Order: sequence, then structure tokens, then C-alpha cells
Amino acid sequence: MTLILRDKAALRTWRAGLGANTRVGFVPTMGALHDGHISLMAQAREAADVVIASIFVNPLQFGPNEDLSRYPRPIEADIAKLEVAGVDALFLPSVDDMYPPGASTFVDEEMVSLPLCGAERPGHFRGVATVVLKLFNLVQAQVAFFGQKDAQQCAVIERMVRDLDVPVEIRRGAIVREADGLALSSRNVYLSPEDRAAAPLIHQSLRAVEAAFEGGERDAAKLEQIGRNVLAQSDRIRVQYWDVRDPESLGAIASVGARGALLAVAAHLGTTRLIDNLLIGGRG
Ligand code: PAF
Repeated sequence: MTLILRDKAALRTWRAGLGANTRVGFVPTMGALHDGHISLMAQAREAADVVIASIFVNPLQFGPNEDLSRYPRPIEADIAKLEVAGVDALFLPSVDDMYPPGASTFVDEEMVSLPLCGAERPGHFRGVATVVLKLFNLVQAQVAFFGQKDAQQCAVIERMVRDLDVPVEIRRGAIVREADGLALSSRNVYLSPEDRAAAPLIHQSLRAVEAAFEGGERDAAKLEQIGRNVLAQSDRIRVQYWDVRDPESLGAIASVGARGALLAVAAHLGTTRLIDNLLIGGRG
């Protein structure tokens, strides 16, 4: 039975009741749970004595023209999935509880958050870092899980935890994909049938670049062009970025060296923005 904690006070009481030696695993989410989230819950189950998830559609990380109001909120279905996944507790706070009137303190990471999605979505990572630090302070987990699909988010959170000495271990869960390669995302439900049919090209573009890298190509601009050429097969896909980046700093690189690279893509299909990535060489 998943215990539902609807505000910070309930969470604090629950947390205080756990034994000092209890290892807590935490999976923060915005709900609309899919198998990618569930795989993170399973990893938390393996790594911890007690697993807590959060569902909070964080207004601070949405821009004025983004999809905050239409973001899917199937809360009953989500709770049922958490029950099946054996999650012990769900933190389900309101916006007012998380952000009391006049809240004026934010977390700004100023390097890995700047390129890629940071450049396209000003303020997004400030919103992510702020809410994740608040959640870490409230939940006080020893280990927390984030999906590799949001590779830049993982990098920002890892950097924040390091720089601000937050006592939590961050683990990344592998991207979970549909059979045709489309990375699972809560936003996939927005895709029209035509856009859904075109969407696997995103993963195919990553794999094409991986194949070119394995064939010996190291030039970042040439690799990026190979990726863009694959996406050009569909006029439904509008590329926002298709970049070969340093896997740690996310800075631009001229060629792929011993550290390998993060291949990162963001594209619009209709009004839906999808992201995906692949590590090559090095850690990949
Ligand atoms: O990845 C998400 O779902 C969100 O960005 C997160 C980490 C829960 C913060 O709101």
C-alpha cells in the first residue's frame, strides 16, 4: 500500500518516523508515469529499504508559452502504478505548499545548464534545480534516481549536489524505449498518429551517428550533419538542436576524443517538443 503524503508536514512526520539506519531511495517525478519512471522505482527498490516517489508538476520549470496547463495529470492511474511498483510513499504536494507566497530564493547552476535545453528554455533549469533541492531537503533520501533521457537535467543536478554539498547519491537510469526506438516520455501522448509515426527518426538519427562514429568519423560538425540528414527525411520534424557535446561539461567540441561525447537532440513534432540522447565512446 502506497502511503500518500499530501503536504510537507505529513512528509516530515513520515520521514521522522523512519529508523536512523533506514536507507531511503527517492524518485522525483511530474507524474504521467510510464515504464521509464517505473524502471527508476525498481532501481530504487533494489538500492534502498524504503522507496518514496514524488509527483509535482513544478510551475517554476515551465516557460510562459510551454505546456504547464495541458501537462497530463492522470493521478489515479499513477497511484495504481506506484502500488504495483511497491513504492512505499508518494509525496503529492500542492503548488501553494511548495511555493509559499513571496518565495524568492532560487538555485542557479551556471555552466552545464546554459547550452542545449537551457538555451532554448530560459529559466527551465533554475526551476528544476530549485524544486529538486527543496525535495532533497524535505525527503532526505540517501539515494535519488533520474532518467538519462533528461541527460542535461542529470548533469545539472549532479553539479548542484556536488557544488552545494547535498548529502545524496545521484543515480541515472537508462533510457527506456518503445519497440521502434522512441524514448518513453510523458509528452508522447500529445503526438498525432502522423507525428508518432515520424518520431522514431529521432532515435534513428542518434544510431546513424553512432554508426558513423564506430566507422571512424570523429568530426563533430560532420556527425551532427549526419544526424540532421536523418531527421530531414520527415517534414513533420523541426530540429531545435542536434549537437555533439562533451559528456561532462556539455560544452561544444570540434571532434570526439577519448572522453567520448553526448549526442543530444531536441525537435518539435507539431506542438510537442521531444528530446533524446546517446553517449558514444568514453562512458557511452
Ligand atoms: O524530470 C522531471 O520529471 C522533473 O524535471 C523533476 C526532476 C521531477 C523536477 O520537477
